Amino acid sequence: MRAALVLQALVACAAATPLVPRQDIDFNLVDDTPDPAPASIAIGPTAEVVTYNLAEATASATVDPVGAVESAAAKRGLSGRAACDPQPTGAGFVPSPDSASAFLAAPTFAALASAAPTPSGYTNTFTNLQGSVNAYGYLGYTTLTTYDTAKCATKCNAITGCVGINVFFERDPTVSPGTGCTDPASTTVIKCTFWGGYVAAENALNVGQYRSQFHVVIAGSNGYMSNKVPSLPGYTAQALGNYAINAPLDCNGKDTYMGVKLFTTSIFDVGLCAAACAANSAYNVAHPPSTGSPDICTFFNTYLLSKNGVPQGQYCSLYTEPWDISYAVNSGQTRGKDKYTVSYSFSYSNTTTPGTPVCSNNIAYLQSVGSDFCTSYINYVAPTTTVGPTETSVATITASATTSTTDISTVTSFTTTTITGSANGPMKRDATSGAESDYSIAIETIFASNPNKPGARATASAGVKRAIATPASIAGWPAASISAACSQVATGTVTVTTTATTTVSTTSTTSSTVIVPSTVTATATSTFTVPGVLLASPTAIVGSLQGSPDNYDDPYFSLTVPFPIGAYGSYSTSVSLSINGRLCIGDDSGAYANAALPDTGLPNTCVLGYYDDLYIYQGTQQGIYYEVTGAIGSRKLVFEYYVSHYQQPYQYYHFTMSFYEATPGVTDVVYYSVSDFGASATVGAQRLDTNQNMQYEFNTNGTIYPGLTLKIDSTTGLFTPGAI
Ligand SMILES: *[C@@H]1O[C@H](CO)[C@@H](O)[C@H](O)[C@H]1NC(C)=O
Ligand SMILES: *[C@@H]1O[C@H](CO)[C@@H](O)[C@H](O)[C@H]1NC(C)=O
Repeated sequence: MRAALVLQALVACAAATPLVPRQDIDFNLVDDTPDPAPASIAIGPTAEVVTYNLAEATASATVDPVGAVESAAAKRGLSGRAACDPQPTGAGFVPSPDSASAFLAAPTFAALASAAPTPSGYTNTFTNLQGSVNAYGYLGYTTLTTYDTAKCATKCNAITGCVGINVFFERDPTVSPGTGCTDPASTTVIKCTFWGGYVAAENALNVGQYRSQFHVVIAGSNGYMSNKVPSLPGYTAQALGNYAINAPLDCNGKDTYMGVKLFTTSIFDVGLCAAACAANSAYNVAHPPSTGSPDICTFFNTYLLSKNGVPQGQYCSLYTEPWDISYAVNSGQTRGKDKYTVSYSFSYSNTTTPGTPVCSNNIAYLQSVGSDFCTSYINYVAPTTTVGPTETSVATITASATTSTTDISTVTSFTTTTITGSANGPMKRDATSGAESDYSIAIETIFASNPNKPGARATASAGVKRAIATPASIAGWPAASISAACSQVATGTVTVTTTATTTVSTTSTTSSTVIVPSTVTATATSTFTVPGVLLASPTAIVGSLQGSPDNYDDPYFSLTVPFPIGAYGSYSTSVSLSINGRLCIGDDSGAYANAALPDTGLPNTCVLGYYDDLYIYQGTQQGIYYEVTGAIGSRKLVFEYYVSHYQQPYQYYHFTMSFYEATPGVTDVVYYSVSDFGASATVGAQRLDTNQNMQYEFNTNGTIYPGLTLKIDSTTGLFTPGAI
């Protein structure tokens, strides 16, 4: 009886039964599939060639029912032999007396078999048995003039699909036994049989037969298996010995087992299972489930299944994800008195699409190394979907005031931006009380032009992508896994709806003061996907998650923050945050050349998270973002720098500076990307009027690195470095 096994049934079955029993040997399938026909190896010295139509078998592996390919095995040539017709003479020694028992007792055969070398590229599976194998996938035989195992192997190597050989002595009649010659004299044929399946002692069960009164017996039988791991283009192969995969649920609790096929009418050919794997994927894609995505077969395990040593066929288990050899733990099972064993097992994993799952620890890891790696890896550009009114570009400040003279002309423009947080009313920087805006800060942007700076404003490079080295710990992951994991890190879909009312005033100042006031009010509601900025609800101080509208060199931002912060007892809610990695009390400047502390070129009180010549490139998600969290009295204000370097668009600086309402003199800095490892930066804090400062480093390569956390505590003067 043959299983009515259709692809749908395979899939439905896969969804219905629990895990472990499903991956156990499917006895129903084995029972319902006809056993492979035992090979009928011709008696006598005539060579025999057996071929299979592999193309047809492969095609049949993809349809239902399981491939019913008739073997094109040559029929054995017993018919048509008249009694007493002479038979070809073998080349082996004939013992005296000429009897089956003398043949079986002859030491010559045992000696030759025991001394025979293992052919190169083969493994000896048994030696000197008195039975020949009847394995899976008979491919014919040849006769030898001497007991030459190497020659037999060489011939096997030339036969497509031949993986095992059996060399033995066979006591054959000199003439066809029958009336008039019922027990003729014997001749000893040295046989070399070829197998497209596993040649093992368990299946060396053919101990001969009677032909009329003549007793055909076998002696000195040796078995050898090729060591070759069959290769399949597009797959990474692994030999699993005599064990089958028994896979657990994956890291997401998903059952990766898809089902099984059993091939019984061909030789052992891993291509049959590959064909079934591909056909199942195609079927599932064409019949997608109502929820989730279709199961794609990216891995299979195929082996020979035997019942009490007798071949049952080529078993083929399909999976959606790869499992390594440590999961090859099933050597077989018993059912009643029957012992089912696994042999000649191999696994194949789709090389280009390994199907490796993305586990939560992968995501956590990638987040910990900084999501900018992922943003770079998958060339992530935040998709922008604008809903509601079209966003009016926030006033473009064209500070076109000239700087043509060699005198230093300062061009100062400022933007007053009131950002309305979702839970708070609008707030202006000059609001007398911050009480109604406990979680938002007012921002005033000061563009400081440094016309003498070499190459100033000359490095604009829109849309510069981050090119960041793969973190060492994930370098071994398949590219597809990194992409899959990164797409979760870099594109984690957070829908943010913002309504911003922007009022812009522009003042340009040159050597003669010119005041050009202008006012623009824009209201925009946009919904977009947040890229690799780490803050849960980031608000941009400069730059944009949707792509920075411009390049920014040395601006600073006058902020009214919800609670006083600073260093060394100098605390205020009126602070300046410079793009160049520092927070100072009061007004700052466009200073970009860091120096050792105390730095009199800076305001009186500053905390230097990473003072370097930092830069925001247009079109990237670079920017400085902030977030205020916590209950009033113990609020935390985090500034997240997600920036690059002046004239170094491929350097990245990603760090956060956190300030605390309860401990105003303490700043925590966490570094995620630090391209030059502190080689051109100053980190520390200072207060000039009281002559206090603490310097963690100045231009010292290697002192600041991704993963470093640094507590700058001006109340004790102590730095506490740590790790993320
Ligand atoms: C590997 O998987 C991909 C995606 O499913 C598929 O297109 C490709 O054909 C597979 N490779 C092989 C060798 O089957
Ligand atoms: C910092 O040190 C590393 C390791 O020695 C070196 O590869 C790199 O070039 C140095 N960077 C600078 C800016 O000196």
